[in-house]
Parts: sequence; structure tokens; C-alpha cells
Amino acid sequence: MSAPLLRIGLVGAGWVTQHHLAGWQREAARARVVAIADPSRANAQARAEAFGIDTVYSDAQAMFAAEKLDAVDIASPRETHAELVRLAAMHGIPAICQKPLAPSFDAASALVDDVAAIAGMRLMVHENWRFRPYYRQIAAWLREGRIGRVQQAQMTLLSSGLVADARGMLPALERQPFIATLDRALVMEILIHHIDTLRFLLGEMTVVHARTGRNSPAMAGEDHATVAFDTAAGATVLLLANLGAHGEPPALADRLTLIGERGTITLLGNTLTCEGERPDIRRYDMAQCYADSYAATISHFIDALGSGAAFETSPADNLRTLRLVEDIYAQNPAS
Ligand SMILES: NC(=O)c1ccc[n+]([C@@H]2O[C@H](COP(=O)([O-])OP(=O)(O)OC[C@H]3O[C@@H](n4cnc5c(N)ncnc54)[C@H](O)[C@@H]3O)[C@@H](O)[C@H]2O)c1
Repeated sequence: MSAPLLRIGLVGAGWVTQHHLAGWQREAARARVVAIADPSRANAQARAEAFGIDTVYSDAQAMFAAEKLDAVDIASPRETHAELVRLAAMHGIPAICQKPLAPSFDAASALVDDVAAIAGMRLMVHENWRFRPYYRQIAAWLREGRIGRVQQAQMTLLSSGLVADARGMLPALERQPFIATLDRALVMEILIHHIDTLRFLLGEMTVVHARTGRNSPAMAGEDHATVAFDTAAGATVLLLANLGAHGEPPALADRLTLIGERGTITLLGNTLTCEGERPDIRRYDMAQCYADSYAATISHFIDALGSGAAFETSPADNLRTLRLVEDIYAQNPAS
């Protein structure tokens, strides 16, 4: 007999939840989102109608009180996460919570301690970047030793999202207006993914040097950053990012080069290459990979809930990413 469908509550109905809900839809044989809670009735209603969800609530407390849920998916703004995770814990409900777990390392660490004190509370951080198919492929090649020990890595995120387009609009802020208001913007909101992905691929790292800055008057927080890391395994890593780079596409497109003792792996555009003794080349549909990363994250959450296995992006693991984010800000006290 197949297991009963998991009843999922979604908290937040903003931009990102179109991808969450599409991911949950792919898991229709195992789970169903039965309710959404968001103080914006219009946002909640729009998602409920688009994805056939029965009930909307104006806050999570009301949803927890009225619904019998097996898990909750928290996709509201960062400053609400800790309170909502604690609420889920109080109701004994497992949670998957969008990054960043909290607005600072200290707040996230206090939350993780509280959650650990509640026996049986299962919490996964929704950190989907590392679940992109090309990063999973790179990880597989590294495990196979295709390029030997990695000596140098460079990850680049250059976007013209903060350069006015022909309509005079800033595409990055049209897509996600709240980014303009964040005092911790590029690193805490976006590069947190790249740092987590670098940790996933290369192991633990330390921040050697970090400089952040703001060029766009539309932004409250930083919009460019240059960071150098050392890995525990002895590689040097450079992360270069700028949301106002003229001539680059407005969309966020990662470039990555990993130079190993016996080969090189390069991600450029939609093409992933492995040079060395066993050359390989793969091409990807990047929009599909974006959607797939959300679905894979949700799928992992369901798998681990069922099996009792540890979450790959557990709170303890994610705190190591947040530690690096905090170390970058510590070197840039004005940001
Ligand atoms: N993993 C990714 O690639 C990715 C991409 C985009 C956003 N995010 C993360 O997702 C989260 C939401 O981002 P977004 O782009 O959807 O933001 P958004 O501003 O589009 O939407 C936020 C929604 O949350 C609602 N909300 C506010 N307070 C709430 C509360 N207490 N309870 C329930 N709902 C509440 C708002 O009314 C709004 O509908 C953030 O943590 C962000 O960092 C992750």
C-alpha cells in the first residue's frame, strides 16, 4: 500500500513560490500543498488559484491552528524565518525554510540551538543552487578524480540587472523589488548560493580577503563583491560578482573554472566541459536547470523525511555557509 500523501502548508506567496509550487506539483504522487498563509491576501489567492490549493490564511499561526499538516514550506522574507521555524517547532511540524535562515549568523545560530533543543524537530534549509544539474555533474566528476586535486577556482557572477534598460527599468529590481531595500544585499541574498555551492564542490573554506561596494543609488546595500577564499584542501578560490556590469546579460549566469592537477572543469554559458585524460562536454537548458533545482531540493526534503536520513542542507551545514557570509561582512563594516 502506498504511503498517504503528505499534507504541506506553504508560508509566503511571493515571487519565489512559483518555483516551489511547480516543484511540489512534480511530487504529486507523494505530497500536496493544501494551504497557503500570507498577509497579502492577493498574493496568496493568486498562487492558490494558479496551483489549485484549497485554502488561504492571512498568517501562519491561523494555518497551523486550522490545518493538520505533515510539513511546512517557509518561503517568506528572511526576517520572518526564525519566528516561523519556531512556530513550526512548537506545533511539532517538520519544516523546509528558504535561505537565508535568518538575517545574521548569530540569529541563525540561536535558532538552530533552539531547534536542536526540540527533540524530533526536523529542519532543512532550502538551498537549491547546489542542486542544479550541472553542479551535481561537476561534483560527480570531482568524486571520480577526473581533474585530480583542485588547485585554483574562480566563480564569476556578472549581471547588468542594475543597469537601466531601454525602458529605463532596472531588471534585477523589477524581478525582485525587495532586494533594493536590503542593507545586506548581494552577499546575503545572492552570493550565499555561490558560497554554498563552492563549499559543496570544494569542501570547507575560510575567507582570506573580501571587499564589497555599492555603485547603484537604487540599492540600500552592496551590489558588487570580490572575495578570496582558501579551502581546507589547499585550493585558492576567487569569487567576483557585480550586478551592475555593463554589457553582461541582466539574468544571473554563473561562470566557474576549476583547475586541478590533471584537468580543468569550466562552466561557461550553458556549456560544461571537462578537459584532461577523460574529456567531456555537456550542454544544458539553463531555464530547465533553474526549475529543476527547486524540484530536486523539495524531492530531497521528502526523501529524507521519509527515510529519516540527514538533510544535505541541514541547519548545521548551512551555518557554515552563513559563517562565511558573516566573515565577508566583518571585513566590510560599512556594508
Ligand atoms: N533559492 C532561491 O534561489 C531564491 C530565489 C528568490 C528568493 N529566495 C528567498 O525566498 C524568500 C522570499 O523571496 P521572494 O522573492 O518570494 O520575496 P517576495 O517579496 O516576492 O515575497 C515575499 C512574500 O512573503 C509574504 N510575507 C511577508 N511576511 C510574511 C509572514 N510573516 N508570513 C507569511 N508570508 C509573509 C509577503 O506578503 C510576500 O507575498 C527570501 O528568503 C528569499 O531570499 C530564494
